[in-house]
Amino acid sequence: MYRIAVSGKGGTGKTTISGLIVKSLLDGGIKPILAVDADPAGCLAPVLGAKPEVTLGDIREMTRDSKDLPKSQFVEMSVQQAVWEGEGFDLISMGRPEGPGCYCFVNSLLRDSLERLSNSYQAMVIDCEAGMEHLSRRTAGRVDLLVLVSDLSARGIRAAKEMINIARKLDNVPRETRFILNCTREGEPPELLANKINEAGFSDYLTAVYDPGIVNMELRGESFLKIGEDSPVLMVVREMLDDYFGEGE
Ligand SMILES: Nc1ncnc2c1ncn2[C@@H]1O[C@H](COP(=O)(O)OP(=O)(O)OP(=O)(O)O)[C@@H](O)[C@H]1O
Ligand SMILES: [Mg+2]
Repeated sequence: MYRIAVSGKGGTGKTTISGLIVKSLLDGGIKPILAVDADPAGCLAPVLGAKPEVTLGDIREMTRDSKDLPKSQFVEMSVQQAVWEGEGFDLISMGRPEGPGCYCFVNSLLRDSLERLSNSYQAMVIDCEAGMEHLSRRTAGRVDLLVLVSDLSARGIRAAKEMINIARKLDNVPRETRFILNCTREGEPPELLANKINEAGFSDYLTAVYDPGIVNMELRGESFLKIGEDSPVLMVVREMLDDYFGEGE
């Protein structure tokens, strides 16, 4: 099972890239996939045409208050219900983070349950919020491929670098990392920015152009699984995955 996480500064294209990773894996015959919407703002579901009704955040609250079944049984059952089933992929939404109070026990039940669930998939694609703590606390497992997305800003690059530092601190260093500079236009990145990317240690970065087709699809509420083969951003995601699987196998 491949665990692919996508992270980076807010608004840089994490959800878009996550959706296109799911599409590319499916096209490449890697299925079933578990797509994980780990951002409380929860945008991966609409990008993939999914409509989950229950989030893991809801289950966390319900479990804490449940009196009937043993909590472990309750979590196992509820997590099954939270899985939205699509064609070739399922989606689960993390929902809100925990409120005040102690959730350690419930969180560990959730983590175990998610771990068991993920074993039935060939790949897991996690759209993270801009922070890896979330990822590590909730899903526990190792990350095989961390995809960092940045816009053309020094802050975007710093945020990407910070993700790696956080991963190190959490002792969850991804096996491989890729860096995508998203929404570039002709002549970009400017030299100064390219230097910053190199200095941050991402010299083999990929660039994905600003594509009005993506904006239109989002505005029309269309699933990115239906994106045209000629989409330049899809092509970059394919290139990245071909390179990753080519090396990894
Ligand atoms: N290459 C691209 N070309 C044009 N528009 C893009 C591109 N990539 C992303 N977008 C658009 O930019 C916006 C932000 O993208 P997205 O939601 O994927 O970012 P995000 O990092 O997930 O944001 P957030 O941090 O809010 O979750 C969206 O409207 C998306 O359609
Ligand atoms: Mg997002």
